[in-house]
Amino acid sequence: MNESFTNQDYPTKQKILVDLDNGEKLELLQLEELTADLHSDVDLGLDAFETTYSQMPESELKDHFGQLENIRPYYSQLIQEDDVGLFRQGKVTWIRAMMGDTLVGWMTLLPQFQNKTTVYISTLVVSPRWQKLGIGEKLLSSIAQHWFPEATELNLVTRNINCGATRLFKRLGFVPAPDIDSSFIDNPLHCFFMRLKL
Ligand SMILES: CC(C)(COP(=O)(O)OP(=O)(O)OC[C@H]1O[C@@H](n2cnc3c(N)ncnc32)[C@H](O)[C@@H]1OP(=O)(O)O)[C@@H](O)C(=O)NCCC(=O)NCCS
Repeated sequence: MNESFTNQDYPTKQKILVDLDNGEKLELLQLEELTADLHSDVDLGLDAFETTYSQMPESELKDHFGQLENIRPYYSQLIQEDDVGLFRQGKVTWIRAMMGDTLVGWMTLLPQFQNKTTVYISTLVVSPRWQKLGIGEKLLSSIAQHWFPEATELNLVTRNINCGATRLFKRLGFVPAPDIDSSFIDNPLHCFFMRLKL
């Protein structure tokens, strides 16, 4: 795991400052530059997913990934295709969370309709060493407060074994939404679709 992820100073579209419960300032910024180097973001995401799933019994992982060693390559491909790939095409909004010069998390957002009233949260990750400080919650609440103020609905999909993330989403008001179109998921049976009406 990397010691820290530093920010490459790329042009940003917008920046906001939010207060964490511990009084520290978290900076959320929207990447503008489609050619931005996203290596630190990708590595952080892989660490976050690997750490989360490595805390689960192997029997639970089996149906999802086979074995623990498969998790990093699985998410590497997913993040490269769904997040990096779509961002390079200008289809995804990339929000970084920074503490000073340190990248501590990021999320990717996909407005699903032209009027941007439904926003799909593609990926949300916080570096394992910065978790449980409220950064995930601040990222999520900034979507409607700042990046997509016209949004009336947020959608997401998570693994049904990812209890930590599911608990956070439920606490913020997301409810199960089995009607969400799952045709883009390789195995919808293992996934949990959730929606927040704003
Ligand atoms: C899911 C994830 C993004 C949450 O990030 P996070 O920054 O730890 O989220 P938060 O700190 O806002 O909330 C997480 C927990 O910390 C607790 N918390 C928040 N602020 C806190 C504080 N100041 N002190 C102690 N605990 C705190 C919250 O109550 C919450 O607990 P709960 O879920 O049991 O209610 C992170 O765990 C992660 O990256 N996981 C791997 C990737 C993943 O699964 N992503 C989601 C699917 S795409």
